[in-house]
Amino acid sequence: MRVLLIGSGGREHALAWKLSQSPRLTELHAAPGNPGIAQLGECHPVRAEDGEGLLDLAHTLPADLVVVGPEAPLVGGVADELRHAGVAVFGPSKDAARIEGSKSFAKDVMRTAGIPTAETMSVARPPCVLKVDGLAAGKGVFVCLDEPSLDSALKATAALGQPLVIEELLHGEELSLFALADGQNVVPLAPARDFKRVGDFDSGPNTGGMGAYSPVSEVGAAEIEELLETVHRPALAELARRGSTFVGLLYAGLMLTGDGPKVLEFNCRFGDPETQSILPRVRGDLVEALLAAATGDLLSSSLTADDAACVTVVLAGREYPARSDSGTPIAGVEEAEATGALVFHAGTAIQGGKLVTNGGRVLNVTALGPSLDEARQRAYAACDLISFEGMRFRRDIASPPVDVAT
Ligand code: AMP
Ligand code: GLY
Repeated sequence: MRVLLIGSGGREHALAWKLSQSPRLTELHAAPGNPGIAQLGECHPVRAEDGEGLLDLAHTLPADLVVVGPEAPLVGGVADELRHAGVAVFGPSKDAARIEGSKSFAKDVMRTAGIPTAETMSVARPPCVLKVDGLAAGKGVFVCLDEPSLDSALKATAALGQPLVIEELLHGEELSLFALADGQNVVPLAPARDFKRVGDFDSGPNTGGMGAYSPVSEVGAAEIEELLETVHRPALAELARRGSTFVGLLYAGLMLTGDGPKVLEFNCRFGDPETQSILPRVRGDLVEALLAAATGDLLSSSLTADDAACVTVVLAGREYPARSDSGTPIAGVEEAEATGALVFHAGTAIQGGKLVTNGGRVLNVTALGPSLDEARQRAYAACDLISFEGMRFRRDIASPPVDVAT
């Protein structure tokens, strides 16, 4: 099978790495890909949002399956263009992708389907959470504990010029639960926990994610099944009822509150960096599973998770999340890989034959271990071998206080 993977981040490098292990894969192509993905397949200079260019590429190869990584092309309707042209696609239609693309649409789906979520508020009063209605790469959510933080959030959201959703503030530990979906049936992946704030001990602004780990000790098989039953299946059924059948990866971002799990958000694609901690634990053929989802045949598929624990640490540029970094030379990737860690590229480029930064989140360092503790130590040992000017990363990903508290 010839697979075309769309995207260029750490999530896509992890997907490329796992897809490459499938005995069914004959060729891996990526658009546009990144220097890490280029070591596993052929990268083509077509942007992820360029529907026409992607359609041309899918026909020329020709691709047996297209896997869409990021949300923007999905929300923009790239999967529809490919599907209408007869290409098998793992990724939802534009209509179904509104579950991520519009917070108010997602709230409406949840209300109708009876999915537990935070109450919406008609007036912003602290404590509350302000959410920009459209896509914002994880940076459109403002947790407001007091009047000053609400004032600055209102200013920041006004500058973005989009409608707002205001929510009650929920308390608890967060959880990301992904499920492959063929429109009707689901196959869950192992739960993961993401670290969204830029600084240690959850300080600073929200980001796309600074690290992740899997498994999450308090969420076992019974809890996963309960979440599928109360969250994923009702969401899929409601989308199908509205004529927006969802084919792809349904990501539920949850808060485990004292009143039970509540949905913070849905995403219409694999999470980043959770995917980098989930896929190294997957046992089974990812090409086969994604093709089964794309062709409405998930019932016969299953993917299990290895017992090992996995930890991912994001290495970001000096000014992330405010600004990205480019052209700064990166050293030590091979040394880090030599320890057995996986180094997934996110925002990198090759300049003059050398690896340099090219984004906000630059690299993801992932390590497996027999325990979370050991996986964490291995990941950080590998991080310490990598360097670039201004490199920043959180030191507390999957650290004991976090796990003990959960
Ligand atoms: P979202 O993009 O909606 O998942 O929000 C990003 C992050 O903001 C979440 O992962 C939480 O850390 C935080 N957040 C979102 N909604 C709430 C809420 N209702 N209560 C508390 N924290 C929230
Ligand atoms: N890690 C959060 C996200 O992918 O949206």
